[in-house]
Amino acid sequence: MSELMRRMLFLPEAASTFATRVDGLHFFVIGMSMLVATGLAVVGLVFLVRYKRRPGDAPTTPRVEAPHWMEALFLSLPLTFFLLWFVIGFLDFSWFNSPPRGALDVYVMGKQWMWKFAYADGPSSVGVLYVPAGRPVRLLITSRDVIHSFFVPDFRVKHDAVPGRYTQIWFEAPRPGRHAIYCTEYCGLMHSRMRGEVVVLAPADFEAWSAQEQGGDVATLSPFHEGAEVEEARGPMAARGRRVAAEKGCFKCHTEDGTPHIGPTWLGLYLRVERLKSGEDIVADEAYLTRSMMDPDAQVVAGFLPVMPTYLGQLSATDAAALVEYIKSLRPARPGEAVSQEPVYVPTSR
Ligand code: CUA
Repeated sequence: MSELMRRMLFLPEAASTFATRVDGLHFFVIGMSMLVATGLAVVGLVFLVRYKRRPGDAPTTPRVEAPHWMEALFLSLPLTFFLLWFVIGFLDFSWFNSPPRGALDVYVMGKQWMWKFAYADGPSSVGVLYVPAGRPVRLLITSRDVIHSFFVPDFRVKHDAVPGRYTQIWFEAPRPGRHAIYCTEYCGLMHSRMRGEVVVLAPADFEAWSAQEQGGDVATLSPFHEGAEVEEARGPMAARGRRVAAEKGCFKCHTEDGTPHIGPTWLGLYLRVERLKSGEDIVADEAYLTRSMMDPDAQVVAGFLPVMPTYLGQLSATDAAALVEYIKSLRPARPGEAVSQEPVYVPTSR
C-alpha cells in the first residue's frame, strides 16, 4: 500500500527508518485530503442532480437550519484531524531530534563546494559518506564558509550546515545501497554541483572499509572532487584534538585530569550537566562545546569568569571537531566519579 502511494506521489525510495515515518504521515495527510475532497465532490454532484430547479418549482426553497450537533460536528471533525496530524508530526520530530545512544558519530563539514566526512576513530572521506546498515548514525554538521544544507532525499533527512556551529541529525539505513546527497541552500556558483553520496555497507563490509582506511593514506574521493582536497590529517581525531589543544593554548586554562583551573576541567565534561551563570542548566554536548569555542561569553558556567577568547575564525571546523572528540575521550576513571568543579579565581585586567 505505502509502496503504491510512494509511486503515485513520485517520491524517491524510502531508505531509512525515518523515511518510513515521514512517508506514513505524508500518506495519511494526502489520503485524508483525497478522501474528504472526493466526498465533497460526490455530495456536490448528487445535490446538483437531485436539487436541480425544475419547471413549476418555486423560485426560492425554504431556509434550511442545521441542528446544533451537526454544526458542532462540522467544526470539530476537521479540527480533530488537524490536531492528529500535528501530534503525529510532533512525535516524529522529537524522535528525529533525539539520536539513540551508541550511534556512530560522523562529523560532516560543508564547504564551497563539497562535503567532507570525518569519523571519530580516524578515517575521513570527501564526497562519499560510508555508513553501516542497521546501525544508527549521528551526523554532527557544520560549515567552513557559508550556510549549506545537507539533504539526502532517500532518507528524508535535511539539515542546515551553519558556520561556527555544530548541529546534529541522525538516521538509520536498514539496507545496503547508495543514495545521493544534495546541498539545498544556495551557496554560490557551484551550488548545484555540491553533491555527494551515502554508501550504506553491510556491517562486515563497513568494518573492513574502516580498518583499511585507518591503515591506508589515500582518502576516498568522489568523482566531483580533486585530489588536493584530500584531508591532510589522518589518524584518530582525539589525538589530533590533543595536538590542537596544545597549539592553541587551551591547557593554559583547562585541565585534562580534573584539577580545577581558570576554566572548567575537560575530564568528564562531555554530557555533564552544567549550571550556567543565568541559572539555566545545560548538557555539555557537541553543540554546547563548539559554541563555547566560537562564542564563549554566550553560556558561561556559573562560578567561572568570562575570560575565554573566541576561537571563531581561528579553529578550522576539522580542528573544532577534533577538539570535541578529544574532550569526549576524557572520561573519569570510574563512571560516575565526581569531578571537583571548584574554580580558581584569578585577577584579570579586563
Ligand atoms: Cu552548498 Cu549549496
